[in-house]
Amino acid sequence: MASNAALSLSFHFLLLSISVAMARVSFSTGHGGQLSRDVLARQEADRVIKLPGQPPVDFKQYAGYVTVNESHGRALFYWFFEATSKPEKQPLLLWLNGGPGCSSIGYGAAEELGPFFPQKDKTTLKLNPHRWNRAANLLFVESPVGVGFSYTNNSSDIHQLGDEITAKDSYSFLVNWFKRFPQFKSHDFYIAGESYAGHYVPQLAEAIFDSNKHVPKSDYINLKGFMIGNALLDDEMDQTGMVDYAWDHAVISDRVYNDIKIKCNFSSPQPTKDCNIALRAYFAVYRIIDMYSLYTPSCISNSSSSRQRLAIQGIAPQILSKFDGWLKRPAGYDPCASDYTEVYLNRPDVQNALHANVTKMSYPWTHCSDTISIWKDSPASMLPTIKKLIAGGIRIWVFSGDTDGRIPVTATRLTLKKLGLKTIEEWTPWYTNNKQVGGWTIEYDGLMFVTIRGAGHEVPTFKPRQALQLVRHFLANKKLPPKPF
Ligand SMILES: *[C@@H]1O[C@H](CO)[C@@H](O)[C@H](O)[C@H]1NC(C)=O
Ligand SMILES: *[C@@H]1O[C@H](CO)[C@@H](O)[C@H](O)[C@H]1NC(C)=O
Ligand SMILES: *[C@@H]1O[C@H](CO)[C@@H](O)[C@H](O)[C@H]1NC(C)=O
Ligand SMILES: *[C@@H]1O[C@H](CO)[C@@H](O)[C@H](O)[C@H]1NC(C)=O
Ligand SMILES: *[C@@H]1O[C@H](CO)[C@@H](O)[C@H](O)[C@H]1NC(C)=O
Ligand SMILES: *[C@@H]1O[C@H](CO)[C@@H](O)[C@H](O)[C@H]1NC(C)=O
Repeated sequence: MASNAALSLSFHFLLLSISVAMARVSFSTGHGGQLSRDVLARQEADRVIKLPGQPPVDFKQYAGYVTVNESHGRALFYWFFEATSKPEKQPLLLWLNGGPGCSSIGYGAAEELGPFFPQKDKTTLKLNPHRWNRAANLLFVESPVGVGFSYTNNSSDIHQLGDEITAKDSYSFLVNWFKRFPQFKSHDFYIAGESYAGHYVPQLAEAIFDSNKHVPKSDYINLKGFMIGNALLDDEMDQTGMVDYAWDHAVISDRVYNDIKIKCNFSSPQPTKDCNIALRAYFAVYRIIDMYSLYTPSCISNSSSSRQRLAIQGIAPQILSKFDGWLKRPAGYDPCASDYTEVYLNRPDVQNALHANVTKMSYPWTHCSDTISIWKDSPASMLPTIKKLIAGGIRIWVFSGDTDGRIPVTATRLTLKKLGLKTIEEWTPWYTNNKQVGGWTIEYDGLMFVTIRGAGHEVPTFKPRQALQLVRHFLANKKLPPKPF
């Protein structure tokens, strides 16, 4: 058994490396210069020359739509930033936020790891010193249709969304995006994301992994690995971990904790009536503090950041996602940052500069979709997919901001325990360049787990320096420093 598995595994590796090598050869035509006129003109049309209120920069940026389904008229909106130095030599990294239904441009690009953050005056952008395009060419996409500027011309699509169609359309997006930017095709490709992207990222990686086995060389995607943070991965463990964490962080009382332990079965998709009552007491506390970041302030204003997300039926985790409290949106270090983003991205001059909203949608841009109300498929566990991709040789890093109560470090640790990988190197601290402990890390056979000390749900927002260090080490496949340096 075991040796058979090992044999087929190394065969896989062999196939993978052969096809990677072939892809290299056929696309090693270099950068820039050799691109056809048509390709260059199409890229130029997407070029973002300068955004309103933007500081001067010396990297290029592009934004626009990529059609993912012609018959229904589905198009996904992207924003792409070339790396700040030597883009022709750097890997390509795609970032995805979760929700489902939330925007990677609103959160990821504008508040977490992109180069520009909208400011309180709602007219200027601040250059983020810890922008991730210092480590890679950085691509954001709003996915699926119905999120942000991404749209469909057939409104029936909005009621057909789920994990599967999201992965399928995101995959089509990538294939077509590489046709628009063929100079990045030979680059090492990585995906990263947080929260519900714990579903999106492995599912997209799997779509690429499977398609790579049969697509023509021209559609081969050079996927090397992915990284997910505070990621929804396994309903049973995520829900158990949330409740344990809330008790352990002095958020809920012994009584509430014991009630939930006795009355709820998190392996079952349907809560009992008693479990529902117990959980209401749990969510009550998170009305007064930020579940996504236990020790930072909430936004005291009645504008967009305090608005709830719309309830979406059918999403994981099956039990907790049915509660109002689940629908609160993340705030940030500046807990009102979402307000600035929302005003900025709804400005017509900003939308023009970004080539966004070309079809003049009937509703405004929001962080999380107000139109998606049903989700068709959302597996209770991503562990089978993770196992398959580990076996396929895909690099996987899982990280966790340890002050997040939403998908807490406790949940992720329980999930990784359930995954059952062999430990290669035990739990050790890792250090930042100012000789402080950045968090802890443990290396499993096929997966690296990293905690970020003092970070909430959106790790790059709360700990920008540590997050940039993390992504650099991930891309270089290098362990974080176990000693002060
Ligand atoms: C376009 O989307 C529709 C509905 O989701 C689907 O039935 C059809 O197969 C898609 N077309 C292609 C070419 O994938
Ligand atoms: C959607 O419809 C608009 C208006 O007809 C059209 O301009 C646009 O190209 C269509 N989008 C796609 C992706 O086909
Ligand atoms: C929209 O999609 C549905 C489902 O595929 C199809 O029945 C319908 O004809 C489409 N509508 C338009 C206007 O294309
Ligand atoms: C919890 O639910 C699962 C799935 O429905 C079931 O198999 C299990 O027996 C339940 N556990 C208890 C303690 O009721
Ligand atoms: C809050 O809402 C009230 C009533 O809608 C409005 O008058 C007030 O200006 C709002 N305050 C802030 C800070 O937005
Ligand atoms: C698109 O533009 C229209 C018209 O300017 C505007 O009313 C709408 O809010 C915008 N929608 C989005 C999603 O940006």
